[in-house]
Amino acid sequence: MLHETRVLHASNTFKSRSVATTAWVESASKDRLAFWAEQARQLTWYSPWKTVLDWNRPYAKWFVEGTLNASVNCLDVHMGTERETKPAIIWEGELGTIRRYTYAELHDEVDRFSRVLSHQFKVRRGDRVTIYMPLIPELVVAVLACARIGAIHSVVFGGFSSQSLKDRILDSDSKIVITATGGYRRGKVIPLKEIVDAALPGTAIRDVIVVNHAAADTASFIEGRDFRYNDLMAKEWPEFVPEQMNSEDPLFILYTSGTTGKPKGIVHTTGGYLTHAKYSTRIVFDLKDDDIYWCTADIGWITGHTYVVYGPLSNGATVLLYEGSPDYPDKDRFWSIIAQHKISILYTAPTAIRAFMKWGDHFPNRHDLSSLRLLGSVGEPINPEAWMWYYEVIGKSRCPIVDTWWQTETGGIMVTALPGIAPMKPGTAGPALPGISIDILDDDGHPSTSGLLSITEPWPSMARGIWGDNSRFESTYWAKFPTYFAGDGATVDADGYITVLGRVDDVLNVAGHRIGTMEVESALVDFESIAEAAVVGIPDDIKGQAILAFAILKEGVTASAELEAAAINWVGDLIGAIAKPKRIVFTPDLPKTRSGKIMRRVLKGIANNEPTGDTTTLANPDIVEALRGIIAGN
Ligand code: WT7
Repeated sequence: MLHETRVLHASNTFKSRSVATTAWVESASKDRLAFWAEQARQLTWYSPWKTVLDWNRPYAKWFVEGTLNASVNCLDVHMGTERETKPAIIWEGELGTIRRYTYAELHDEVDRFSRVLSHQFKVRRGDRVTIYMPLIPELVVAVLACARIGAIHSVVFGGFSSQSLKDRILDSDSKIVITATGGYRRGKVIPLKEIVDAALPGTAIRDVIVVNHAAADTASFIEGRDFRYNDLMAKEWPEFVPEQMNSEDPLFILYTSGTTGKPKGIVHTTGGYLTHAKYSTRIVFDLKDDDIYWCTADIGWITGHTYVVYGPLSNGATVLLYEGSPDYPDKDRFWSIIAQHKISILYTAPTAIRAFMKWGDHFPNRHDLSSLRLLGSVGEPINPEAWMWYYEVIGKSRCPIVDTWWQTETGGIMVTALPGIAPMKPGTAGPALPGISIDILDDDGHPSTSGLLSITEPWPSMARGIWGDNSRFESTYWAKFPTYFAGDGATVDADGYITVLGRVDDVLNVAGHRIGTMEVESALVDFESIAEAAVVGIPDDIKGQAILAFAILKEGVTASAELEAAAINWVGDLIGAIAKPKRIVFTPDLPKTRSGKIMRRVLKGIANNEPTGDTTTLANPDIVEALRGIIAGN
């Protein structure tokens, strides 16, 4: 099913009620800046902007001199409306506990926590706050309280190791961490507080706020440095005057991997980011007031920032949060959640869809999924076979699917076939969103049907830089073309539908998570027995890509299965489980140029049983066949 040529359409009922209409497309193409100004007017501002866009390539300022507060737009704007008593969050823990917060309750909680941060800890506008938490409502509270007081949040995914957490604390120069005693994952307790304790020596962290959750009775507690969330909250009341932020004040930093060993702190600002978050959530997910919306991403990723927190809450949606794993206690957990909470919109990742497919139809078929009306996919290309399975088995051929392409750097969805107005082509994300301009460029920067994806006009939610390293921002995204270089290969068809093929740089996409090859390599050479290492991506049925590592052992060390397992776990401990190689091939040598540079391109060819391309520059051409033999198991 590689060449899926089917074109599918939403039902007439869906079309007749869809948020998206061709009028949006027309108005955006007529006057792009006026269109964005109209979207920005959907937010509540303290004072209006003077200029829509101030573009000084590659730095954009949107809605210049406008002032607003992101948390106000997610909470206060719903007070005094019907949404006040509407559930904002329905949280389900892995153990089955359910907690609900209405918009009024969430507003109170955020006000109180804003007081905690501002009055008890003197966190000020512009200060960075690192958040390292499981997917619990207090994570949303922490994020929104930062926004409320004007502090810049840096959420670090709870699956990252203490070293990764430490690197991000140091880079952002945070003085305070918000965490929890632990989290639940597949029936196990993840000792988050222990991981935080190990990350702090050598950082400037003075205070740690701890929410009681998993392992609450056994987690460490250091008097004077650690503070219990509940104790702090008990001293406060729900009254706080939000900071009036400038449109271009940073709202958050979010770290993501690139082609060097060091993750980049992508900076997003307030007005433009929130404008796109609110607009794209409404139009792409066809959001209506009675929807129960579930985006399964963790808030530690950009998908969680934009489509769990800011997008849905600014639209007054009811958001489901599920803390745990899809196969706990059984492989039907997602479907039981959908049936129980009557989820109408589900946004998840191809890697999960492929796992569900493999587990079998009987798991979804056990449950009533008739509440679903729209499905979404994000994070990596979705193969047509998985698309069709999602469409038929989960959506019962009733629910449009939005395959959404975007990145941490883009802040929000850039490409998708809008439900109700654009036909769906399985395996193809679709056209650019109204207001977004995209071209596929050849190596010389000329528009082509196949090449490199580039966003050709500034957009409100674009990254404003890399924290502390704007020269890297310029060289990574703005050196190849005059326009934004996304790092993805893509094709475009006669209807303007874009098919994203995957990364063209040394960045891997494992289960929808971006991992830099250099990060994994430097973790491997840190392992005491390994002298040199190189990693490449190989296809994986479920995860899309998996990591294959090649390593040269130090003198006198003998390769063994135990050593391989130990080195794999080492990478997990150093970076986080998502970065663990699937396999390490120990080899006496690696393909290198005469100047000693490892040629990853050649390794990629070997690993994927494909041609290696030109190998005449190799100092040791014989290694190619030797490695092919090792991979093939001879
Ligand atoms: C990279 C961005 C966007 C939030 C999740 C990942 C890949 C993302 C798609 C899609 C094909 C996709 C790209 C992109 N990607 N969505 N619908 N089809 N590829 O965010 O970690 O910043 O990764 O994910 O390669 O560059 P991220």
